[in-house]
Amino acid sequence: MSSAPSTDDTDVVVLFSEERSEEVVTRSFAQTPDPRLRQILESLVRHLHAFAKDVDLTQTELDAAIGFLTRTGQKCDDVRQEFVLLSDVLGMSMLVDTITNRAAGIATESTVLGPFHMVDSPARELGEDIAGVPGGEQTLVTGRVLSADGSPLPGALVDVWQADEKGFYDVQVPDSVPQGNLRGLFTCDEQGRFWFRTIVPAPYPIPDDGPVGQLLGATNRHPYRPAHIHFIAGAAGHAPLTTHIFVAGSPYLDSDAVFGVKESLIADFAVVDDAGLAAEHAVAVPFRHAHVELRLRST
Ligand code: BEZ
Ligand code: FE
Repeated sequence: MSSAPSTDDTDVVVLFSEERSEEVVTRSFAQTPDPRLRQILESLVRHLHAFAKDVDLTQTELDAAIGFLTRTGQKCDDVRQEFVLLSDVLGMSMLVDTITNRAAGIATESTVLGPFHMVDSPARELGEDIAGVPGGEQTLVTGRVLSADGSPLPGALVDVWQADEKGFYDVQVPDSVPQGNLRGLFTCDEQGRFWFRTIVPAPYPIPDDGPVGQLLGATNRHPYRPAHIHFIAGAAGHAPLTTHIFVAGSPYLDSDAVFGVKESLIADFAVVDDAGLAAEHAVAVPFRHAHVELRLRST
């Protein structure tokens, strides 16, 4: 179906010009049946054209941008999503996440999913050690999954994954650690509680061997994320929550490469010397202890 020529209110045909480019191009989308798609495309065109005019974009620069996006696409495969990474370092992932969860109120704040939730976490018993190889500082993580009104959610599922003490996920070092290392899927007890043993994760760089890494390099930005543990919590009648806890005091808390840090998600990993608690959880003193409350929005 060909679109009608662009005309103004008095039916005079309006041709493309620098002055009227937004008007002509947005009008070409006027027959889009889906109103949301039309709204998005019209706004995108307005902002894109305003941007090009703002910086006096040259043909060479447009070609370079298209080349960059082409290489970004070429870097994608079944396990690597360079476009999501680009969205992450441009702050788009966090902006959309924040808009989406704007009305969360007293629910726990969300943050980016990231690319390392790529294998299923093994189902684990409460209290299990998710660190399958020696190394790292032993840590007890305790938590609760609650409704936004504070009532516990028995049987809630908590999916956990994290990097090791050197900053690597299991999938990045498949020859030295078993798959599923530092991952776990826990079912909360009747009081909505979960707990497990692990190690303190280290900060690590996001994958920076592709176009996104080149962008960071060209702009003098580092690729690091502060140390964190990922969680996805789910319970019937509640929206799933994708979040992290960040290790208090970690480097890069104020310069996360993907802008994922929120003050409320920074958790103390306190050094604990309590022999009773240590015996209860089969750890040796001293150990580190972090506690997390995951409050879910009801649907
Ligand atoms: C992560 O935390 O696993 C992550 C998040 C965004 C981009 C890269 C890594
Ligand atoms: Fe991560």
